[in-house]
Order: sequence, then structure tokens, then C-alpha cells
Amino acid sequence: MQALTPQTAQWWQTGVIYQVYPRSFQDSNGDGVGDLDGITQRLPYLVELGIDVVWLSPFYTSPMADFGYDVADYTDVDPIFGDLAAFDRLVAAAHGLGLKLVVDFVPNHSSDQHAWFKESRASRDNPKRDWYVWRDPAPNGGPPNNWLSVFGGPAWTLDETTGQYYLHSFLKEQPDVNWRNPELRAAMLGAMQFWLERGVDGFRFDVAHYIMKDPDFRDNPVRERMEGFVFKDMGDYDSLVHLYSKAHPDVHDVYREVRALLDRYSTPDNPRFAVGEIHEFDWALWAKYYGEQNDELHMPFNFALLGRPWHAGIFRGIVDSLEAAVPPGAWPNYVISNHDEHRVVTRYGYDGARAAMLILLTLRGTPTMYYGDEIGMQNTEIPPELEQDPWGLRVPGLGLGRDPERTPMQWDDSPNAGFAPEGVTTWLPVNADKTTINVASQMDDPRSMLSLTRRLLSLRRKMPALSIGDYRPLDSVPADCFAFERTFGDQRVLVAVNFAEHEQIVHLADAATCEVLASTMMDREGQVDLDAVSLRPFEGIVIQV
Ligand code: GLC
Repeated sequence: MQALTPQTAQWWQTGVIYQVYPRSFQDSNGDGVGDLDGITQRLPYLVELGIDVVWLSPFYTSPMADFGYDVADYTDVDPIFGDLAAFDRLVAAAHGLGLKLVVDFVPNHSSDQHAWFKESRASRDNPKRDWYVWRDPAPNGGPPNNWLSVFGGPAWTLDETTGQYYLHSFLKEQPDVNWRNPELRAAMLGAMQFWLERGVDGFRFDVAHYIMKDPDFRDNPVRERMEGFVFKDMGDYDSLVHLYSKAHPDVHDVYREVRALLDRYSTPDNPRFAVGEIHEFDWALWAKYYGEQNDELHMPFNFALLGRPWHAGIFRGIVDSLEAAVPPGAWPNYVISNHDEHRVVTRYGYDGARAAMLILLTLRGTPTMYYGDEIGMQNTEIPPELEQDPWGLRVPGLGLGRDPERTPMQWDDSPNAGFAPEGVTTWLPVNADKTTINVASQMDDPRSMLSLTRRLLSLRRKMPALSIGDYRPLDSVPADCFAFERTFGDQRVLVAVNFAEHEQIVHLADAATCEVLASTMMDREGQVDLDAVSLRPFEGIVIQV
């Protein structure tokens, strides 16, 4: 397999993805909710930051039962976010600035308010009945099988009028569509085409692995005990092994078809791209989503770093095992946070978040970061009466609510942090730490997290070793350090991170004086001796050899 070069690498391989949650990025019309025009206004900031790809969470017509992940029209914009003209302005502005635009696509379920579902539920013989998953009740009148909804309770709801149950892997307002029906499949691909023609550069497929289920609808096995890595405690949902309710191998046919569509819309200058949200922690199963001929998703998101403790050995183990798992010719990636997970600062603290950013931006593989990561936004405590996320409300007490990581972007220290005009009630409260954690104040501070992120992004862009270069872990460092080498041609870079709360002197190589390119503390330049590099608590360092 030919190694990548800056000439052969695609934008989604060398680029850095930045996730924007449209409700929370910039409110341009003073209704307290972010919108597409707001995002367009802020694009120059993203260029200055140094990211390459903007991924937008859903902005489609939606009753917002799951804040847009319940789509009522796949080919229109919800009025709260703007309209198609605003979307076109956003695409044009992004492309004009050299940014790529990836949009969320929700293939597993629509809203129960989608016209397709309204028709489907109208009668048993409606032509769209089979576009969703309908089953007769069990002999006792209960649900057809024991499948559970991720968001609590059974995955089936009885439709009184027609006397059958419909499947919903998430809320009952999010009925699962039936990908085994050719017309539904064509309609979904048609919706993708609609956005490709409007100029999007790619898609992020929501719960991409859920779309194919066991055709026999067998009961899921009962889980005797939680074994191995537990991503998060999901309450009663964890009482079953979700063997039959998702990820049936037929899923791969769908992604081959999706890939063929993307390929049809690709030209050498403008390759289109697909990344899938795949919560699969068995690397062999995970890697299948690239396709046997690298003909499915360009990347299944790699979530292995989420939900893990701050531990050098665990981080290294993940990176090494990922490097081994990625099939020949396929490209790795890392996700450090998103709209479903606690903020990085909340997980690892401020210094840990800086070190995590340094690791993310120096590994081999496309990095994905979440809005606000670059300034070190943390979770916001949401008073119970303001809680909105259906997951947290339906399955309380386990910390599953996702409002804390979805609060408005902190642009400055004004009352609504520059997200919305003063006096407006924002859809979720602005974090009180906006006085210090905000873009404006960090922009001028050479030691800020923002300055660190910008430095790392600019190094990654300048140095092929950091983006497409080879990765080799270094064994010479103590157990609570993670160090690795990145090389491309004669370019060689060393990265070392001290995970410990105390200073450590680490041996990276034989004595040689080399230049520090970046330290997470942003207070250190000049030379170090590779034989003995001192690293302060949680300090990470990038060295040119
Ligand atoms: C994905 C999304 C999440 C959403 C769920 C249902 O996990 O990331 O936000 O609630 O799918 O669509």
C-alpha cells in the first residue's frame, strides 16, 4: 500500500474536523437559539483558528423532540435555523474561505411528524406502511420482542388505530425507518443527493450502525454482567446485549450503496466524504465499516478515547490497537468530544484538556473536535427546571443528560457571551465562567488554550509528519508518560506527554539538542536535550528532531 503524500492525501485525511452544534454557536436574530446565518458570520474565526472541515449537527425541519435528530423533512431547513437560502449562503461562504462543509444525516429514524410516518401510520395497507418497522403485538398483547430504547423504556410503541407496534430505537417520536424497503432506501438516497447538489462535501451518518436489524426480530439476550469496557452506564438499557436490534451485517450493503452515490458525485478536485457514528468497541467489527474494498464509509468515527480515564497506558493502548486495526489503505481518526459527551475539561481538568488537545492534534488520523474545545469550555451545571435533553429527563440520576455540554459558545465576556444579544434568554444558560473562558480574551493571551490550539493546528497544517506521517510509540518513557514519534520523509517530530501530577524527566532518544515546537503551557521555546526532557505535571511537548 502506497504511503500518503501531501499530493495524494484527501482533504478529509489531512484536515481537522470541527463540530458545530447549530443551536449553540451563534444566534444572529436574537431568539436565543443559534442559526445558520450566525454560523456564516463566524466562519472567518474558524479559518483563523486553523480548522479545515465544519461538521454541522442537524438543522433540518424538526419538532425538536431530540433537538433536530428527529427530522420531519430531510430536504428543508427548520425555520429556527433559517431557510434553504441561508444554507446556500453558508455553503458559498465556507467554500469561499476554503472550508469544507459536512452535514449530519439521520438515517435510522425520522420524526413521527414526518409526512412519511404520518402516511405509514394511517392504515395497515398504506403504500408507505413498510417504510417503517411495524409488527403485530405479542400473543399477550405486549411489544413484539424485548428490544429496548436507548432513551429508556421499550423500543416499541403501540399505535392504537392500526393495532400494531412500531419500532423506535430512541424516542417514540423517532420511529425507525425500514432500510429493507427499496422505496424508503431510494428516498433516503434521494435526500442525500439533494444536499450533494447543494454543494455539501460530505455527511456524518447518525447512529450509522443501527439501520439494519435482525430480519427475524429475535429477542436480545439478557446481559448477565457488564464485561470489558463500559462506555457509560445506561441504566436498564444495559440489561440486554443488543445483538439483534442493530448492526445486522446487511448494514454493509447500504453503506456500499451510499459510497457509490458519493463516488458518483466526486471528482478528483472535489471528493465527497462519509463518516459514520459507530459505537462499536470491537475493533474487528468496527473496521468492517470501511468496507472490504474500502468501499463503504471513508471513516467510522473512533470513540475509543471517550469515557476513558486519564491514563498514559490506556491512551497508548488505544492508539496502538487502532493503528493495528485500521485496514490497509484505510485512514484512522480520533474524536475527543462531541455533543453527546461530557466536555474534555470536565473529564480531565484544564491542564489535562490541553494535553488531550496536543495528543489529538499530533496523532496519525483525522482529528474531530467540538465547538468550544479550543478555549477549554467545560460542562455547565443546568438547574433541574431548565433541563431539556430527553435522555437525561427520561433516564434520570445517571448523568446521561447532554445539556451541560451543549451550552452557548463563549465568544466574549458580555452577558450572553457574544452568542446572543444582551437581554435575550438563551435556550440553555451561558456558563458563568465566560468571564475568563471566552474567545476574545484568549485571542490576545499568548498562553491561552486558544493560542495553544491555534499553534498546534498551524503546526499540523505545516508539517506532513504530523498529519500523514508514520506513528511509532516510544518505549523509553516512564509508565505515566505517553510519547511517540511521527515521521514523513526526513521530517521527524517527537511528542511526549506527562500524565502525572508531578514533574518527570523523560528520556526520548540519545543525547541531541532539538527545538521545542510547542508545549501545552505555551511558555517554553528553544532547545531541549532528548536524553533528558523535563516535563511539568500534565505537560505535553512537541519537538522537532
Ligand atoms: C446520535 C446523536 C445523538 C442523538 C441520537 C439519536 O447518537 O449523536 O445526539 O440523540 O443519535 O439520533
